[in-house]
Amino acid sequence: MGAAPEVIQGYVLGALVLTGTGGYWAFRLGRWARRQWLLRRLWYWFTGLAHHGGQVEGRLARGQLAAWRAGGTLAVLLAVLAWLISPQVTTYALGVLAISGLILSAVLSWRWVRSFRHRRLWLRPLHRRVAPLAGVHRSVPPRAWLKVERDRSAAELTMPSEFNGDAKQRAAIADTAAAAIGMEAAEAEWQRAAPRPVLRLTLPVPLPEKVPLAEMRAEIERARHDETVWGPGKSGLVKTSLSADSPHAGLSMGSGAGKSVTARSFLAQQLYRGAIGLILDQKMISHQWARDLPNVMIYRREAEIHEALCWLGGDTTRGLIGEVARRNEVALAGSDLEGNVHALVGARIVVVCEELNAAMKMLRGYWRRLRHEDRSLPVRSPALDALDVANMTGRQVLVNLLYMGQKLSVKAIGGDGDARESIGVLAFGRYKPGNWQMLAGDYPMPPPSLTPGRIQVVTDQVRECQAVFMTALEARELAMAGTVAALPAGMPGARAVPGGTPVPVSGPDRLFVPETKPVVPALPGLVTLAEAAAEGIVSCSLAALRKAPQRDPEFPRRKGFRGIAGEYDAMELALWNAGRR
Ligand SMILES: Nc1ncnc2c1ncn2[C@@H]1O[C@H](COP(=O)(O)OP(=O)(O)OP(=O)(O)O)[C@@H](O)[C@H]1O
Ligand SMILES: [Mg+2]
Repeated sequence: MGAAPEVIQGYVLGALVLTGTGGYWAFRLGRWARRQWLLRRLWYWFTGLAHHGGQVEGRLARGQLAAWRAGGTLAVLLAVLAWLISPQVTTYALGVLAISGLILSAVLSWRWVRSFRHRRLWLRPLHRRVAPLAGVHRSVPPRAWLKVERDRSAAELTMPSEFNGDAKQRAAIADTAAAAIGMEAAEAEWQRAAPRPVLRLTLPVPLPEKVPLAEMRAEIERARHDETVWGPGKSGLVKTSLSADSPHAGLSMGSGAGKSVTARSFLAQQLYRGAIGLILDQKMISHQWARDLPNVMIYRREAEIHEALCWLGGDTTRGLIGEVARRNEVALAGSDLEGNVHALVGARIVVVCEELNAAMKMLRGYWRRLRHEDRSLPVRSPALDALDVANMTGRQVLVNLLYMGQKLSVKAIGGDGDARESIGVLAFGRYKPGNWQMLAGDYPMPPPSLTPGRIQVVTDQVRECQAVFMTALEARELAMAGTVAALPAGMPGARAVPGGTPVPVSGPDRLFVPETKPVVPALPGLVTLAEAAAEGIVSCSLAALRKAPQRDPEFPRRKGFRGIAGEYDAMELALWNAGRR
């Protein structure tokens, strides 16, 4: 049975009257309370507002401030209550608390005093100069949004959440901030994907003056077979690839800038990966570190350099087929429809062309003299043509050139402007504007450095690095530590190794080689001392060699016996011989 309608009407009317009068009195009470000074202060206090009722500018958000204030008030009230219950215990507890507080405030005060100079000299001026640009209120304490390391090696500026500056504004802020704290060369990094955008300023870590092999060894071992590790750069390791970047590289570096040392590191890394080194060193002693290595030939005199280049690129005047042409025949015989080469053309050959400016002059002079005796010879030296052939057609058959010179002009490269186009990796050191403009004019020139080994590696970008420094012994050790390739048969001056050279090369007569096999290191195996002397593995007489094991503690250990003759590792004997000289 429902209630009578009169009763319901009575309830509704009663509720309306009560709400009306209640609301009216609540409004009066509120108006009265707002006029009360104490109540208003209490309200501001517990809701995290400033004493004038506005927002508090500072590090704490309003909610956090309200929580701190409420907590603090509660703590005081509890302390009073505790004191009323047990005055003695409360006094002790408050005493301990006060002493701890004193110690803490002493520490904080000490830190404050110590950082006073830092704040006066750097933090406050930074705040004054950047706050208007960043839209930060002047009343915000500087430490609320600025952090500057005491040695000013780094700084962090936290922008207000509403900051939305464009690139120009951001650059202006970074620039002004860096100037204000004396970090002119600072690198600026913006972190915009955050509730409050952050600007970080850091001073670039200066590159070391010297980078020993030990620091780069792991990187070199990790690098791919066609990669060269140049050294540590400002933004990470600088590496280039002989296949992905460029088959040929150039070192355009002033006198004493570290050309020979950089070439040493370049070649030693490739030798480690199983390449063969062909060094053209007209200065004679630039690459003594590689003397007598089983995988390197050094050519020093004009006739030797001429012969070496003709062996590599061929000589039409004598009908000589060059190694590059031979390799291309092998590649043709073993390539598929896509042009992928499946035949083994031989170990990679890295040609180090020292001081090309002088070497070219010498080769031209040498050829002029030969031509003087035989006027039927062509005007241009076949050695220069051979270098061009290696440049143009060497890439696919693993022939890589390292051009070196104080100024890699077209003349220094052999007179062929096209050849210079294929040098896609260039390292500059102690460069002059004219030199930079000539070879890397597309990129702005970074300020040159006089530090030996400080190079700019130019590929499709410019990266500064400190070239890795290998001592001669370290380079030798690296060159022998990996796959040691044998010198190809027929290479001028190359010494044959006992047991024949295992040539991992398929010939043009082999029509199809189905798969690429790994390059087999040419280990000459074990030899007797008589064989070592006869084969020229060592450069002393057999009689002297027989005495050497007793006289020299460094002499390689015997590996076994053949009849009554002791057997030794030929490679160890060759190395011992190289170290002896
Ligand atoms: N990467 C490097 N790190 C540290 N020092 C180096 C580096 N490269 C070269 N040097 C120093 O510079 C000296 C000269 O180096 P290097 O002989 O390679 O220069 P270069 O350019 O070949 O000189 P030149 O024009 O006389 O042939 C070295 O003896 C070595 O002390
Ligand atoms: Mg040199």
